[in-house]
Amino acid sequence: MTREQQSRYESVYRAWQRDPEAWWAEAASGISWRKGWDRVFDPAIGPYGVWFPGAALNTCENCLDRHVAAGRGGQTALIWDSPLAGRSERFTYAELTARTAQVAGALKALGVGRGDRVVIYMPMVPEAAITMLASARLGAIHSVVFGGFAAAELAARISDAKPRVIVAASCGLEPGRIVAYQPILDAALALSPHQPEACLILQREIAPATLKPGRDHDFLTAEAAAHPADPVPVLATDPLYILYTSGTTGRPKGVVRDHGGHAVALHTSMGMIYGAKAGDVTWTASDVGWVVGHSYIVYAPLLAGCTTIMYEGKPVGTPDAGAFGRVIAAHGVKTLFTAPTAMRAIKQQDPEAKLFTAHDLSRFEALFLAGERCDPPTAEWAAEKLARPVIDHWWQTETGWPITAGFRGLGLFPFKPGSGGRPAPGYDLQALDDNGAVLAPGTNGSLAIRLPLPPGAAPTLWHDEAGFRAAYLQDFPGWYRTGDAGMIDADGDVWVMGRTDDIINTAGHRLSTGAMEEVLASHPDVAECAVVGAQDALKGQVPLGLVVLKAGVDRAPDDICAELVQLVRQRIGAVASFKQALVVPRLPKTRSGKILRAAIRRLADGEPANPPPTIEDPAALDDISRALGTR
Ligand code: COA
Ligand code: AMP
Repeated sequence: MTREQQSRYESVYRAWQRDPEAWWAEAASGISWRKGWDRVFDPAIGPYGVWFPGAALNTCENCLDRHVAAGRGGQTALIWDSPLAGRSERFTYAELTARTAQVAGALKALGVGRGDRVVIYMPMVPEAAITMLASARLGAIHSVVFGGFAAAELAARISDAKPRVIVAASCGLEPGRIVAYQPILDAALALSPHQPEACLILQREIAPATLKPGRDHDFLTAEAAAHPADPVPVLATDPLYILYTSGTTGRPKGVVRDHGGHAVALHTSMGMIYGAKAGDVTWTASDVGWVVGHSYIVYAPLLAGCTTIMYEGKPVGTPDAGAFGRVIAAHGVKTLFTAPTAMRAIKQQDPEAKLFTAHDLSRFEALFLAGERCDPPTAEWAAEKLARPVIDHWWQTETGWPITAGFRGLGLFPFKPGSGGRPAPGYDLQALDDNGAVLAPGTNGSLAIRLPLPPGAAPTLWHDEAGFRAAYLQDFPGWYRTGDAGMIDADGDVWVMGRTDDIINTAGHRLSTGAMEEVLASHPDVAECAVVGAQDALKGQVPLGLVVLKAGVDRAPDDICAELVQLVRQRIGAVASFKQALVVPRLPKTRSGKILRAAIRRLADGEPANPPPTIEDPAALDDISRALGTR
């Protein structure tokens, strides 16, 4: 029998197709409910429907208290491993529950209750996860902001989410530098029309902040003084969190996640996709600021009763390319989930993976990759050097859990490097042509999911249902447009080739080239600009800016470009990795004035430009080739 024949995937996927509501009702038995649902799915509410309306639960209780009640309070729930701080800590389920109840009590004392927002601006420290869970415990709605964003991005999120309280740390740690958070928070609050009632600041010994009297409270003091708070039952359809992600403009989208569907989908995915069971050690090397961190550092492993690892470090340089092997060996990791860029970084520095494999990997079983397309050579390299299954899986902030995957829990099908696997039960995925017709296998098109989206996927955008419809549902009626292009082959394997919009993936971080263009266009010397994602051997894609200067500007182009690089770092953040801008005499456009970004990107990647016949002035492409030649 082939591995494919042994896989239970087909039968499970068919069972979901036959009766999706019965399938999800069965999956929901893995969650503890305070009250059952009126219906499994109600198509009449929201942009496409809601899951488990009428039901009540508490996500934090499902992540923590119920495991303690089941007698597993002594099992390790969370391990913090920080090569950057030179420390490591372990928390049992009982300890994590107790700390979370205290922090929930501290938030409650500051007035936080059901439906209030809590913005969390913290690095990879246990208190970040504890605060997320504490917010969930109260039925409040958290919104975590990634530490690599600049003040203006933090301000945009504060203005939109309108938090009652902001919880921050005094600093984050990057190799060779301390990122002081307090100045960024102060600058963001100076920009934001909305002000929180209070800030809770976690003082890290390495760089404490000066607290602002009347606004700031010391996190640990408030935690110690609080009365522990019990979990508050909320509706399955209430929001658990808002996570802002890049859209096609400078304004980030507030992706909403609800409680019930999220708990059911994530709990199901742990067994079905990752093959994890209670007591297993699972490690997701990402950041709590991203959806991968929300789902697979915090919520899913705890819902499933696993031990999760929070790693404050990098794949290389902390101290070397063997870092991941050390963590796997030290903590008995069974499955590692990271971005392909991390594997490329290791491969660049240690082509034989000797430093990685020098550690005891005997308990390590599989590597999961997502966040960006994994190039086949990297997938093959990882499979060969680590001698473990390598499973690519494709998903988005909006879906909250994988759309396609290899299903380790159901028995894997053959490894096809470069493919993102097959659709998870819950997703009817098809490649569509521009008119919304389903394409034949093997044909490239827009990847779209037939509505409804499954439990766990975003029911809407924060206070912007119209924005949800416009961004995802309008182009192909009856479908959710993923924004990714690709094809489904004759075996049913999905190949995701890249975005169809202005979003790029840099080192697994989702960024908007539109947002960067807005920053470049704000420079007084810039008349017009284009930002494209150029291929990069380490980060997958990096942004490249092309600018046309205003008539009469006679300053040195290099000085202007250096200012532009600084401006993007200041406004969006270091994470944008915007390191290169080039001055060109004009930009290639269609006769109707649309900038030909795809042709520019092809030139930047060393490919023929292949402009459409509607190009206005083909010579503009020669100017760009010349400018690129100077890179
Ligand atoms: N806080 C503050 N700054 C941050 C940050 C954070 N949380 N995360 C990244 N940055 C900064 C970096 O220090 C860097 O600054 P620099 O321009 O001054 O050097 C910049 O943002 C770009 O960071 P990054 O793109 O991550 O590049 P890098 O060169 O620091 O590291 C890798 C490259 C491959 C090692 C790194 O990207 C990595 O570990 N990637 C894993 C991918 C991942 O976790 N993706 C999440 C989605 S699954
Ligand atoms: P984010 O919302 O930050 O998780 O980014 C989502 C986007 O990352 C997707 O729309 C894809 O473009 C890309 N992406 C994530 N995982 C994969 C994958 N496994 N293969 C290809 N692209 C991916």
